[in-house]
Amino acid sequence: MGSYNFCIAVLVMFNLSFMGISTSLNPYFYAKVCPQALPTIKQVVGAAVKQERRVGASLLRLHFHDCFVNGCDASILLDSTSAFTSEKNALPNANSARGFEVIDRIKYEVDKVCGWPVVSCADILAVAARDSVVALGGPSWEVQLGRRDSTTASESKANNDIPSPFMDLPELINSFKKQGLNVKDLVALSGGHTLGLSQCRLFKNRIYNETNIDPNFAHQGRATCPPNGGDSKLAPLDPSPASFDTNYFSNLVSKKGLLHSDQALYNGGQTDYLVKTYSKNYGAFSKDFASSMIKMGNIKPLTGKRGQIRLDCKKVN
Ligand code: HEM
Repeated sequence: MGSYNFCIAVLVMFNLSFMGISTSLNPYFYAKVCPQALPTIKQVVGAAVKQERRVGASLLRLHFHDCFVNGCDASILLDSTSAFTSEKNALPNANSARGFEVIDRIKYEVDKVCGWPVVSCADILAVAARDSVVALGGPSWEVQLGRRDSTTASESKANNDIPSPFMDLPELINSFKKQGLNVKDLVALSGGHTLGLSQCRLFKNRIYNETNIDPNFAHQGRATCPPNGGDSKLAPLDPSPASFDTNYFSNLVSKKGLLHSDQALYNGGQTDYLVKTYSKNYGAFSKDFASSMIKMGNIKPLTGKRGQIRLDCKKVN
């Protein structure tokens, strides 16, 4: 940016904040307009997780899949219209992304308690991800707030920008780099796989054909996933899929990563040392996970007058 453009940008930001329109995120965005917003989200997430522990994992993943496609703007929640096809149809999301009904319930309760629709769907996704991690025994962090909701979605960007479970380390590093996230963010955030489940179709090739896998673990996996069919059967991403712990990383050290992309983080490359550290040090993992979640949550938010506060998270107003 040239110095002239920089001055203009500073002036615009100064004017917008003078007009009471915030251009950056902050944790107190709803403190005055709706102090009950955050406790309400926590309560709905807590109840949903109590009913089905997996939904906490699903909500964490929704925030990730939102942020990696054009920033954290709730684009993943929009249904198809004549103007665009939904990101829900994209390969990484179709018959896979879940938890949408919990987001709708949160939106309903939050709008009711606030008396009017002030809380964005994008902020709901960010707070629900944090509250899910906490509900499953993980660390807490202060969620930055003030994101606004997109008026469009991109199925093709979702296909291109969400990393695939068949990627090797350099591709994973590159996919995170494109989002402004570094190697440490990649490893810490992959620790999200301490929670939740995966379908056979996404790791079948690994348990039948790969060699950097513990033989007993591969054998067990084959019992769950037959060579033909059974593609949507489920296996846990780590041995304790409803608790936030270091088992995901110690599993990688013993070659028991479920996805190809998981084991890629511990396969003789530059991330081995981080995986080893996190496998032995819950404090280091949970601290780095929390800071990387904040970083991921800050990807390209819509602020100020850009975007909108949706009335229904599934539809543009
Ligand atoms: C590093 C690249 C990543 C790849 C390739 C990847 C891939 C996958 C795949 C293939 C599944 C299984 C989906 C299914 O069976 O339908 C999954 C599940 C999951 N992912 Fe990731 N993921 C990545 C990073 C992340 C990150 C950064 C987070 C969060 C911080 C995350 C959180 C989750 C969770 C919680 C689940 C379980 C969801 C559930 O049980 O509903 N993943 N991921």
